[in-house]
Amino acid sequence: MKDRKGILLAGGSGTRLMPLTSSVNKHLLPIYDKPMIFYSLSILMLAGINEILIITRKEDLSLFNDLLGDGSRFGINLSYEVQDNPNGIAEAFLIGEKFIGKSDVCLMLGDNIFYGPDLETKLVQSSMKNHSTVFSYGVHDPERFGICEIDNDKRVISLEEKPVKPKSNLAVTGLYFYDSNAPQIAKNIKPSNRGELEITDVNIEYMKSQNLYSEVLDKSYMWIDAGTQESFLVA
Ligand code: DAU
Repeated sequence: MKDRKGILLAGGSGTRLMPLTSSVNKHLLPIYDKPMIFYSLSILMLAGINEILIITRKEDLSLFNDLLGDGSRFGINLSYEVQDNPNGIAEAFLIGEKFIGKSDVCLMLGDNIFYGPDLETKLVQSSMKNHSTVFSYGVHDPERFGICEIDNDKRVISLEEKPVKPKSNLAVTGLYFYDSNAPQIAKNIKPSNRGELEITDVNIEYMKSQNLYSEVLDKSYMWIDAGTQESFLVA
């Protein structure tokens, strides 16, 4: 069995949820009866990952620690690191390089919520593959997301971050399975026009080496990026 570690990203500035997020970290806001981060944490746990690094802002570290502690309550092992500035999702691999070591790594965005039948099997199977896997979901507002095209073998053949003219409506969701090269790839990408190390640029590197596949989640699944007022309400 391959050694796999998880990174849960729970930093950022939550601008699109202001004023809810002016003094509360987005991932601690309630979704029905639980803090938002419980949903993404459960996805990593469903994938069978029990060694998890949570990355957040310095000022919020103690809150996450109070909420989740060392994870033993949930039968997992949690550690924490700080992201000093919201420099982009791919910075998670630079911050987490030592933690990842020689393991495969699964990155989960803390504001993503997945729900659906037999998700556990799907996740565990994907994490066992010998290639990198993302999950995509048909959306009506593709300009908001990383967008991919795939071929008949589910191989990703095009990728764009928040395209003005999207080539498909398949959004790349915030759950990514990679090998241990992810930190090396993240070191070689440059900040985008909006000044962030983009996860889409990491995915493009995997795609260029023919090593990125996408599992399409059909409409029997629900996926929400709860980072806007509307989607937060839906969640
Ligand atoms: O939700 C899926 C989408 O997430 C993907 O389709 C996009 O390709 C990907 O870029 C991302 O887009 P967003 O614009 O929604 O990302 P956002 O800035 O909202 O950040 C996503 C999560 O990552 C959120 O929980 C906050 C956290 N984050 C983000 C950044 C930029 C950090 O912890 N640190 C950061 O520097």
